[in-house]
Amino acid sequence: MIPDKAPKEDVFHAGGALKKNAHVPNFENYKELYLKSIENPDEFWGDIAKDFYWKSKHTGQFLDYNFDVTKGEIYIKCMEGATTNICYNVLDRNVHERKLGDKVAFYWEGNEPGDMMKVTYGELLQQVCQFANVLKSQGVKKGDRVSIYMPMVVELVVAMLACVRIGAVHSIVFAGFSAESLCDRILNSQCSLLITADGFYRGDKLINLKVIADDALQKCRDQSFPVQRCIMLKHLAVNIQLSVSPSQIFCVWFRQVPWNPEVDQCWHSLLSGVSDECEPEWCDSEDPLFILYTSGSTGKPKGVLHTVSGYMLYVATTFKLVFDYQPDDVYWCTADIGWITGHSYITYGPLANGATSVLFEGLPTYPDVSRMWEIVDKYQVTKFYTAPTAIRLLMKYGSEPVQKYNRESLKVLGTVGEPINPEAWQWYYSVVGEKRCPVVDTFWQTETGGHVLTPLPAATPMKPGSATFPFFGVVPAILNESGEELEGPCEGYLVFKQAWPGVMRTVYGNHQRFETTYFKKFPGYYVSGDGCRRDTDGYYWITGRMDDMLNVSGHLLSTAEVESALGEHAAVAEAAVVSRLHPVKGESLYCFVTLTDGVGFNRTLEAELKKQVREKIGAIATPDFIQNAPSLPKTRSGKIMRRVLRKIARNERDLGDLSTLADSSVIEQLFLNHCCGAV
Ligand code: WTA
Repeated sequence: MIPDKAPKEDVFHAGGALKKNAHVPNFENYKELYLKSIENPDEFWGDIAKDFYWKSKHTGQFLDYNFDVTKGEIYIKCMEGATTNICYNVLDRNVHERKLGDKVAFYWEGNEPGDMMKVTYGELLQQVCQFANVLKSQGVKKGDRVSIYMPMVVELVVAMLACVRIGAVHSIVFAGFSAESLCDRILNSQCSLLITADGFYRGDKLINLKVIADDALQKCRDQSFPVQRCIMLKHLAVNIQLSVSPSQIFCVWFRQVPWNPEVDQCWHSLLSGVSDECEPEWCDSEDPLFILYTSGSTGKPKGVLHTVSGYMLYVATTFKLVFDYQPDDVYWCTADIGWITGHSYITYGPLANGATSVLFEGLPTYPDVSRMWEIVDKYQVTKFYTAPTAIRLLMKYGSEPVQKYNRESLKVLGTVGEPINPEAWQWYYSVVGEKRCPVVDTFWQTETGGHVLTPLPAATPMKPGSATFPFFGVVPAILNESGEELEGPCEGYLVFKQAWPGVMRTVYGNHQRFETTYFKKFPGYYVSGDGCRRDTDGYYWITGRMDDMLNVSGHLLSTAEVESALGEHAAVAEAAVVSRLHPVKGESLYCFVTLTDGVGFNRTLEAELKKQVREKIGAIATPDFIQNAPSLPKTRSGKIMRRVLRKIARNERDLGDLSTLADSSVIEQLFLNHCCGAV
């Protein structure tokens, strides 16, 4: 399945400077370890587990699972019988065994340049223990669910680790979600307590988080689920001393935070006089660790449940190997902790390795579009992890804002969240990384816990736009519509044949939905929902969600492929392609394009773009419509909402649930620019 030798043509052989000390220095080494990981997972993961602290050892098989619905209930169990605590492993073990107490865990960089602070492993441990004691005093016990709705502050990490220290299950809700979404998630997880903050700034926009949280709690009460307690961190108030923006200071002094004395308590007051020692709760390997909601193609969001030991080993190992973590690294992942990327690769993965990270509260475009590179230089960031959408956004402004900073410290660049079009990959690699840094295009999902298809920076020759090969322990396959495994070069459904330690265990409170969503379509496989192509060199290319596939005149096309062809035109900053029904061809291609700054939309450009796609893919993929889209509808995490675009393409005004839409003003503009002509 994996080629004997890495291909020589068509690839970028980066990682030269990394090879000397790399954990996995070359492709042969990767292949050898990969075979061991799938042929003998017990030994492979067993060796890794030796680095962690176990209160009691596991008995029996390392991984036990059933992926086949026809043989009974789906289950995954890892290291049954072992007891441990993930907070102990990411903090106490680093402070006491590895003597990293004085090492910086996080450099916090606020929304305003100049707002900054740092916290060491020793300090973090103290703060977590204190807050864990606060949670206990509020009656939170092992197994209880706690909702966390906070901005990107160190206290968010403190809150999540305090929960897991006492065996409580956190359910973090991204601070951009609405009151209704927060209420839905509180109700679904039946949380006993909510932790939030007064508010925060996103760029120059003030978000009154407590007002939204109160609204959510009222909605919960209306549905007969009164949440008994709410702990509020005064983040804006504390920022008075730090803030450099006069407008912020004004707001802070005159702000009234809504307060309900029966429910609300202040984070800082609760801490006073509380001990900073707290014995961890020793948990079973398969005890629940956290719930994180992810959208489903139908119905309400699903509460993805991860458990203790498998998740811990998997995120620690993927972090170490995919970013080739070295002790002197300064690592920066720009995601929000409210998403899985932040859970796995801001909190648990980096801390498990004793890494120093940047925790950034702000935006890549505030106060200007070179903010990212300013931060890279400021903290001498070595490993940088971001999303293709951010890359495409910054690409629009050209290389000058990047080149204002020298970025010499960078060694590895990473991407996550969606397919990266080769155009954006090249820009990231050449302009940001100056052809020095390997780009790790990491494919994974909330459900997979950590990376599942990814290059290793010193070992895997890269192809722009390909997530390359499976991580250790992961066995991918590509199936056709009838569920047959395809060999060699092919395209179809991406599935996984065997369990790996980090895979989700269930949908919280709805095991049946777990089985139906991921295991029913093709018994015996975990179905990712993504389409995938394997090329002649065995490289995997994610082609987008299977629900984003188009069938034009009987030919299966991936929207991502057409988007990438459009994106390669110099005038296009971003493109999103959806289907519009066609009386003859079945479906036709309706393309939304956001143009590069300063470029105007006209008939000549439209014709050029159609020609470009025809030339890149073939006549079959020629777009039927190209619409100028100054902005695209996106979720707050930056994903394009294709469901909404499909409706706009069809000129349907009923757009359904728009609660996850980041900026609703985009919609009206798109309807105004609509291509109304008949096909
Ligand atoms: C997409 C984010 C292509 C994919 C970690 C997946 C990607 C969904 C990549 C999961 C990538 C993520 N290349 N597509 N490198 N990474 N995706 O749950 O469609 O927010 O199924 O997890 O994002 O999104 P989620």
